[in-house]
Amino acid sequence: MTSFEQRVFSGIKPSGDLHLGNYLGAIRRFVPLQKTHPCIYCVVDMHAITVWQDPADLKRATFEVAAAYIAAGVDPEKHIIFNQSQVIEHAELAWIFNCVARMGWMQRMTQFKDKAGKNAQNVSLGLFAYPALMAADILLYKATHVPVGDDQKQHLELTRDIAQKFNNDFAASIAANGLRADFFPLTEPVIFGPATRVLSLRDGTKKMSKSDASGMAAIYMLDDADAIARKIRKAKTDPESLPSEEAGLSGRPEAANLVGIYAALADMSAEQVLAEFGGQGFGAFKPALAELAVEKLAPIATEMRKLLDDTSHIEAVLKDGANRARTIAQVTMSEVRDVVGFVL
Ligand code: TRP
Repeated sequence: MTSFEQRVFSGIKPSGDLHLGNYLGAIRRFVPLQKTHPCIYCVVDMHAITVWQDPADLKRATFEVAAAYIAAGVDPEKHIIFNQSQVIEHAELAWIFNCVARMGWMQRMTQFKDKAGKNAQNVSLGLFAYPALMAADILLYKATHVPVGDDQKQHLELTRDIAQKFNNDFAASIAANGLRADFFPLTEPVIFGPATRVLSLRDGTKKMSKSDASGMAAIYMLDDADAIARKIRKAKTDPESLPSEEAGLSGRPEAANLVGIYAALADMSAEQVLAEFGGQGFGAFKPALAELAVEKLAPIATEMRKLLDDTSHIEAVLKDGANRARTIAQVTMSEVRDVVGFVL
């Protein structure tokens, strides 16, 4: 069997303000992949509305994610940046996948269980179907590589299961249509190195999250230099000095988090950071981290603010990206319609 043309796809939900976790866990990883693969980076607005989004906020957040992609260094001319809802084929393939995926598979999704919590009877049907839409995002472009944080690994496994079941269920029809037997590829996750899990600056047991009420828990991608430095200075820590080896961070989640952030921003391992700062207290480490964070993040924030000042450039990028994405998506969908047996 010939291998698939390699292609990268990933997406970020426009729901709330982008923070350091989105940058370190996703966006920063998107940039180097452009050198080796054709890349499609999507603003997944249809995923965002699985929980309530104020319409004006959704538009603003969609522009913000697109601005972050561009400001961080994604090239929208060589690669593709677009918002999901402009390419309606996502919804169409998601429906077909709703009919391929099994209830039991979906019920095992830990992210759904976490998000639904005790409220499972009152969340949207879309939230339950969310991973089937994600599989559609990826397989519409027959993407072979998907860079995501480790919280998304289970969704990628589901994507493989859906691809495999589709290929099996429709094997005869795929063959009759003269298409390759492994019609959908079995997508690989792109495994990231350290610090893909960025924790709250106020509580080392919680994820840094967009929905955290106190603005001090997260560094936002639009924060200016002062805000970045202030939040790092005020971050919760313990009174000990830093250990010189990683093992010494166990049971010290706040310390481990700040070391992880430093390592990710500096492109170093935690071990290397501790070799440099071991034995020093936070009085020395925090200013070094603040300086590094400002150096890496403030220029991106400045560029984002410039792009968001007048959204006409972003709108043109999204429209052009959607047109190019649709060209690929339409090829897949016309094959899928035939394979499924829809009369054309
Ligand atoms: N579910 C992903 C997240 O919450 C976002 C997403 C939607 C995505 N569709 C995708 C990521 C396709 C990668 C590929 O982070």
